[in-house]
Amino acid sequence: MNDKAYQVCINPDCRATYSLDQIIFSCSKCKSLLDIAYDWDRLAVPRSMEFFEHRWATKGRTAGGRLDFSGIWRFRELIPFVPEEYIVTIGEGRTQLEQNDPLARHIGMKPGRLFLQYEGLNPSGSFKDNGMTAAFSLARRLGRTRVACASTGNTSASLAMFAHKSDPPMQGIVFIGSGKIAYGKLSQALDYGALTLQIEGDFDACLRRVFQAADRLGLYLMNSVNPYRLEGQKAIMYRVLEAREWEVPDWVIVPGGNLGNCSAFGKAFRELHDLGLIKRIPRLAVINAAGANTLYHLHEKDKLRWNGGRYDRDKVSALYAAMDESHYLPHTVASAIEISRPVNLPKALRALEIMNDGLVREVSDEVILEHKALVGRYGFGCEPASAASVAGLHLLLDEQVISPDENVVCILTGHVLKDPDATVKYHMGVDMKNATPPPAEPPTGKCANPPKRVPDDLDAICAALGEKPPK
Ligand code: F0G
Repeated sequence: MNDKAYQVCINPDCRATYSLDQIIFSCSKCKSLLDIAYDWDRLAVPRSMEFFEHRWATKGRTAGGRLDFSGIWRFRELIPFVPEEYIVTIGEGRTQLEQNDPLARHIGMKPGRLFLQYEGLNPSGSFKDNGMTAAFSLARRLGRTRVACASTGNTSASLAMFAHKSDPPMQGIVFIGSGKIAYGKLSQALDYGALTLQIEGDFDACLRRVFQAADRLGLYLMNSVNPYRLEGQKAIMYRVLEAREWEVPDWVIVPGGNLGNCSAFGKAFRELHDLGLIKRIPRLAVINAAGANTLYHLHEKDKLRWNGGRYDRDKVSALYAAMDESHYLPHTVASAIEISRPVNLPKALRALEIMNDGLVREVSDEVILEHKALVGRYGFGCEPASAASVAGLHLLLDEQVISPDENVVCILTGHVLKDPDATVKYHMGVDMKNATPPPAEPPTGKCANPPKRVPDDLDAICAALGEKPPK
């Protein structure tokens, strides 16, 4: 199978290729990112997406049953880089696409048009499991025993879970920044037994260090710069299509952090279209937090475009130099996407081009939290970063870029329980992150739903529940 899949540099002026056995995370010749490419003519590609349908309900302990049960590997013909016997799967990717009419109405859309893809329903509670199963499978095939990542939390939780579930188990090593990680995520990394290094500095600093440590110690790098991660994340789009009975939506809206997810979506749609498995490609909107808005700045203000791979690198260097000069540090309540130097920036630009001249918006923390509360009120909830997608949709409706009767899929990337502190602070005004919590301030959010304090007394409880006192 290996010669039918290979690594290729994304730079059109280089296009160097590497075998899957070569452990590199950027092109040795020009330092650009790498893609996994396939010789589709020599692979058994299904003629239509319906081919995958029968697998959805398969269970069982046979090898095929385990793969069919996974929401990634039941599409294995579209991700054919690893022999089946090496696949590390824990039943990831069995997530849901929910048509959410109450939320649609609230933000001014027609019923039947808004769909929420709950990636928080993955085993580790975020979309990261889609990519981890793929990268771990390759790591296993290559006989790696130590895997590492830098993380704002979810990547580390997912890595830690897969590391101890692999056979044989691997050592999971995670680099997290000081301060900003949500406790739901930190608790997972610790509970799953990862060796957790808390570095002074933010995510960008952690990422620089994990690259260096991986290089020196031969750790296998699991950040989304690892192209196999993105191969797995393509499956999120396959499942969206599957849930819509293969009908392509008009829009896909996703939060942007390190920009792996949106990059994977672009690649998924490019391939499906080239293989003749879909007739059209949806439009992409990537939503940054205003406090971590590198892609927004470059794409919308500086008008940076992929331009067939010959994008204006000077614009990126100039922005990064200005950030250095002003000692800029990203800052957002959506800690998952608090990233100023996204490693997948070039691939994200490519995805924006592939997905019908996609666009990027930024949303404030206040707006993110309001929309997180709405997803909670009308749906199953999500963590702050995920709500950026719905906040971005609302903004694009207001801007009349998206019309109320278009079909829109918002990706909810992480579970509501990932960051309970943010939720409690929003609804109650109590900051649980301080060792000695400061006195509560009255919550100010429009959707705040604080608990009522009631004495331990039945009359008082009934009164609080609306019972009228007897006349
Ligand atoms: N949403 C959540 C919940 C995330 O955890 C992340 C990224 C994103 C969105 C952004 O996705 O990087 O593909 O653009 N979290 C990474 C981490 C960075 O370390 O867990 P992206």
